[in-house]
Amino acid sequence: MKRDVSVPPPDAGPGAVFSWFAGLRERDSQLYARLSRLAGADPGLLAPVLPLPPGSNMPLLFFASVHHVVLDGARHPLADIFRAPGRELPADAVLADGLASFLKTYAAEVSDLMATRAVQTNEVNRSALIAPAMRVARELAGTELALVEVGASAGLNLHFDRYMTYYTHRSRPTVHVSGPPTAAVQLKCELLGDLVPPLGGGVHPEPGIGPALRMGLDLAPVSVHDDTEMRWLHACVFPDQPERAARARAATAVARAHPVPIHAGDVLDVLPKLLSGVPRHLTPVVMHTWVLAYLSDRQRADFAALLAEQSRERRVLWLGAEWPQYLPGRPALPEDEGTVWSLADLDGGEARHHTLAYAHEHATWATWCHKTSIE
Ligand SMILES: C[S@@+](CC[C@H](N)C(=O)[O-])C[C@H]1O[C@@H](n2cnc3c(N)ncnc32)[C@H](O)[C@@H]1O
Repeated sequence: MKRDVSVPPPDAGPGAVFSWFAGLRERDSQLYARLSRLAGADPGLLAPVLPLPPGSNMPLLFFASVHHVVLDGARHPLADIFRAPGRELPADAVLADGLASFLKTYAAEVSDLMATRAVQTNEVNRSALIAPAMRVARELAGTELALVEVGASAGLNLHFDRYMTYYTHRSRPTVHVSGPPTAAVQLKCELLGDLVPPLGGGVHPEPGIGPALRMGLDLAPVSVHDDTEMRWLHACVFPDQPERAARARAATAVARAHPVPIHAGDVLDVLPKLLSGVPRHLTPVVMHTWVLAYLSDRQRADFAALLAEQSRERRVLWLGAEWPQYLPGRPALPEDEGTVWSLADLDGGEARHHTLAYAHEHATWATWCHKTSIE
């Protein structure tokens, strides 16, 4: 059956938004799926923190705030559940009571975080698809690349070429390994289809995989050197996915060892300045993974227009992993698959769109669909 991935309308109430979010989380976080289902069915459970801000990102912000209070040492039965990933979850009635009582006790803390913070994830496993996408970009460009990441957060994915990925197949026992074999950060991606993404030919160090220049921008960059900021990032990871937190910690050590500038500001203000600083012999790749959902329709349209305008001056490759409706060319979404990875080749105001993959939002599985002769 096709999963409903359409985003709820902007004026949807918390009941509808949490019910929608529960469907999204069904496969990757039983804790958030169950709590969301309960809050969706009875928004009264959320009474101490109502009204909640509108928008489809609200549940992520809500749960990150609750998780942050837990990481701060909250003493409460719900906090114990958050701290025991892997243990069987209690019955619905116990979970519902736990959520309502937690919010009564910590309403001020949760509301304050929700009012002052924005969702700040930095999902390192996305590098499992960034690496092959950059190989395709390199092939298309025919020059060295400058990687400019929009919404880079802590910049952990700017180090995609320093991580190793295991690609398994759902339908056969083959395993492909890509990236430096001694990498401290190890990623996993299960391939659903027959096509295998370009893996780099098994040569180490792989020539041309690392961009000649890398930089990021973010509305609220997270410094990998700031423990408080990194704690919020950690709170945005689902508590029942400890492997994600472990990956982020390992990648943080890599990012600390290889400083990359992350410029603060709105993409529409900062990106033109960054692109103007990219030397002419490099082809810029403007990349964003799970960022456009945080922009308004108007900002998304301005962003697309900005890139089209830039491409009149120089060729720009536009790599995005987002809901399909936010991507250039609006690639069709096959049944039951979430994020689309698309690479648009913008030159002289003209665009050629390549759909690279359909994937889980954290790239834990993917259907690679771009045919290429590169290995
Ligand atoms: C869900 S996080 C994704 C982070 C990272 N791209 C990843 O895949 O892990 C969204 C990021 O977009 C940033 N962001 C949201 N609106 C932005 C804007 N207008 N300009 C620049 N960055 C923005 C947020 O600060 C946040 O770091």
